[in-house]
Amino acid sequence: MNALGSVEEMSSRGALGRLGEYVRPVRARLLGSGAAALLGMLAGLMIPLLIQRIIDGPVARGDRSALVPLALGVLALGGLEAGLIYLRRVLVARPTTNIEKRMRADLYHHLQHLPVAFHDRWPSGQLLSRAVSDLTTIRLFIAFSGLFLVVNVLTVLLGLVILLLTAPALGVLAAIMAVPLVLLCLRYQRRYELAARLAQDQVGDLATTVEESTLGIRVLKSFGHGPRATRRFLAQARELRRTELTKARLNATMWALIIGLPELMLAATLATGGYAVAVGSLSLGTVVGAVTILTYLRWPLDSLGWLLAESGKAVAATTRYWEVRDAVTVVADPPAPRPPARPVHGALRLEQVRFQYPGATSEVLRGVDLEVRPGETVALVGATGCGKTTLTALIPRLADVTGGRILLDGVDVRELALAELRTIVASAFEDPVLFSASVRENVALGAPEASDDEVRRSLRVAHAEEFVDALPWGLDTRIGEQGLTLSGGQRQRLALARAVLGNPAVLVLDDPLSALDVHTEVEVEKALRRVLRGVTALVVAHRPSTVQLADRVALLADGRIAAMGTHATLLAEVPGYRRLLSISDAATLA
Ligand SMILES: Nc1ncnc2c1ncn2[C@@H]1O[C@H](COP(=O)(O)OP(=O)(O)O)[C@@H](O)[C@H]1O
Ligand SMILES: [Mg+2]
Repeated sequence: MNALGSVEEMSSRGALGRLGEYVRPVRARLLGSGAAALLGMLAGLMIPLLIQRIIDGPVARGDRSALVPLALGVLALGGLEAGLIYLRRVLVARPTTNIEKRMRADLYHHLQHLPVAFHDRWPSGQLLSRAVSDLTTIRLFIAFSGLFLVVNVLTVLLGLVILLLTAPALGVLAAIMAVPLVLLCLRYQRRYELAARLAQDQVGDLATTVEESTLGIRVLKSFGHGPRATRRFLAQARELRRTELTKARLNATMWALIIGLPELMLAATLATGGYAVAVGSLSLGTVVGAVTILTYLRWPLDSLGWLLAESGKAVAATTRYWEVRDAVTVVADPPAPRPPARPVHGALRLEQVRFQYPGATSEVLRGVDLEVRPGETVALVGATGCGKTTLTALIPRLADVTGGRILLDGVDVRELALAELRTIVASAFEDPVLFSASVRENVALGAPEASDDEVRRSLRVAHAEEFVDALPWGLDTRIGEQGLTLSGGQRQRLALARAVLGNPAVLVLDDPLSALDVHTEVEVEKALRRVLRGVTALVVAHRPSTVQLADRVALLADGRIAAMGTHATLLAEVPGYRRLLSISDAATLA
């Protein structure tokens, strides 16, 4: 829950106000639907006035001819009300689904531009629940609960005014009784809102657990972690249930108040009104009219608590939405991107590069100076956790440096358009992620319009053509979620093929040989040797065989480049280097 903050700071009503940016373009239709709802209510409120006339007029006097126009009036008002309800629903559907779609698209777009560190900190289930259920809650609020909150409050006020005008004594009585109702509702609504927020977060946590255990099912099973994972899941499910019970309790109280108090109001009005008719101070029609108005106000009053609860949920959902949207987009296109130097040489230069993860207490990189000349391959070597992966992520701007700069052909990478930068610089990561799609789609991830020839060429370079051709449907073979049907070496080679497609000038490879057995290592190394030909490359390596593919080796330690030179020089001159590459003395002597 670290990324989520405390429950108290969450319910800022400002969150709803900020929806304005989405509501504005469709406000005409929304106002139209609001007007339709209000007019419908007005038509409904007029009916008791006609009833009053019918009773005091034709009924009291036995005047049958006057009955027909009044009855037709009631019919017309009823028809009008029905028509307006229809209109409201028609008007509201398109604009609100449109708002939901745009908010969802913007959220997704935003997620794509957040630095990778954001995704390290935010559990994916939380993002999932925000992108799916929270946005639906917001749409329902705009389309329904928010609208009716306004319309119903106005209806109640208007009904009371009509009561006050037609039967002042009964009006005052009703108004007095409505005050505690509203106050109590407001109090419970606030508590409900907090509980709703908690429940939404817990659903997000639960989604994260489910997702992680699905993706990691093999690890969970093989380490016999299943029962523990199940216990964790059940514990979270229990938490969620407790919160839901709290919500139910609050709801129950709210409903009891909301049903009970208007009932009391009705009884009091009937008693007072009956007495007034008996002593002759009010006409029977007036009292029947007043009671009909109160009956008509039942739904607006009854729904108040539910609408407030829904609005509470919407406030929580909106706050959760903005929490993600407000996460700083550190990595963004510059306002006026510079064109990259042409032709692209691929000269890479890191100057005093510093980096600190958001929220971390110390810097990972503390002034890295490194130059990779056009066409050169530099191996990056260093102890586990020294910042090699971090350094490679800075070059394609998966995160931005917090100090110093990275130059590509003399231009700061932050001055280039992101799309441009990422066609010049291609990367492959330690854990080659494959998506559930065909081999072709996986390789052409960065260039979907690539031809089959281009895809084949990059597969050939990456030494992957042979095994791809052996797959049941060749390039069209779908590889499962996370590429589970392929071996580690095959996945690595597909990741390499993906990186070289589109002839990038600079390749950044994070440990492309990690977790490979000796046999596949040879295959991937062959691939790598061809991949590296003619491009500028920075390759994280931890094996002597990979290091030997490089022209020079940079040793990263304590956040700086501690040594730079050929493999042979470093072996001879740097004491710790041999140990880092796990080379035994016997091996070098041989
Ligand atoms: N998202 C993150 N937030 C905070 N610290 C991180 C994050 N990712 C990595 N680190 C820390 O940064 C340091 C360098 O990590 P990394 O670049 O992955 O090292 P290497 O690839 O050399 O093993 C480690 O101490 C690691 O714990
Ligand atoms: Mg690493």
